[in-house]
Amino acid sequence: MRIVLLGAPGAGKGTQCKRIVARYGLMHLSSGDILRQERAAGTELGQKAQNYMDSGALVPDDIIVKMMASAIKKTPEAGLILDGFPRTVNQAVALDESLACNGRRIDAVLNLRVDDPVVFERLTGRRSCPQCGAVYHVKNLKPKVDGRCDNDGAELIQRSDDSREVVTNRLKTYRLQTKPVVDYYKKNNTVYDIDANEDADHVASLVFENLDALVSV
Ligand code: AP5
Repeated sequence: MRIVLLGAPGAGKGTQCKRIVARYGLMHLSSGDILRQERAAGTELGQKAQNYMDSGALVPDDIIVKMMASAIKKTPEAGLILDGFPRTVNQAVALDESLACNGRRIDAVLNLRVDDPVVFERLTGRRSCPQCGAVYHVKNLKPKVDGRCDNDGAELIQRSDDSREVVTNRLKTYRLQTKPVVDYYKKNNTVYDIDANEDADHVASLVFENLDALVSV
């Protein structure tokens, strides 16, 4: 299975990917996670991406397409779920072309739909572990010890792009550049629109309903 997971910032893409990976054994590829790892390692790619990410803009297509193409090459037999990529129509076309070269295609697209007030509440309250990448929320998903990661005890941080001001820009960027990707896929692929405003377990049940049907075909 090759799945694309689309949705606004804070729609819960990373949260649902963890559940999808656990159920179907797919490889999870998050363009945002890869970029943050490159930044933490101080690589040239990470430095190039930094200003775009901190302002809520997209990193240029040529950089992202190259980065994701090399990650996608390592796809295991079970398949993969793409999180945060493609994010422009140009990226979607480049992905389709590179899959087609190997006789492959995207099997399904999950589109998580969420309202703006929910996005602000989720992102301004998100806290992450700088060591293992675990994600928490100050209200919805608290760690056992306040401010510390359950896995390794590291001090939790707030992502630099989770301020109200940058989230506003990220939502604008999403509407302008990423929403058209949904229409692009609706022309030739199966797109499942999922209401992602409810709690994470409820959203997961909607996701599984669609993917289970796909697996059993
Ligand atoms: P990226 O890291 O991909 O950020 P994003 O798309 O804005 O998504 P987020 O990671 O913020 O949110 P999410 O939907 O995964 O939500 P999560 O599950 O964590 O990209 C960051 C930047 O990198 C971009 O702005 C851009 O600059 C660059 N970039 C990345 N990919 C690129 C590309 N392809 N092209 C160009 N540039 C690119 O949940 C959020 C919070 O809500 C958590 O606290 C969670 O616990 C909580 N939560 C989740 N679901 C629920 C629920 N159902 N109910 C209650 N709480 C919930």
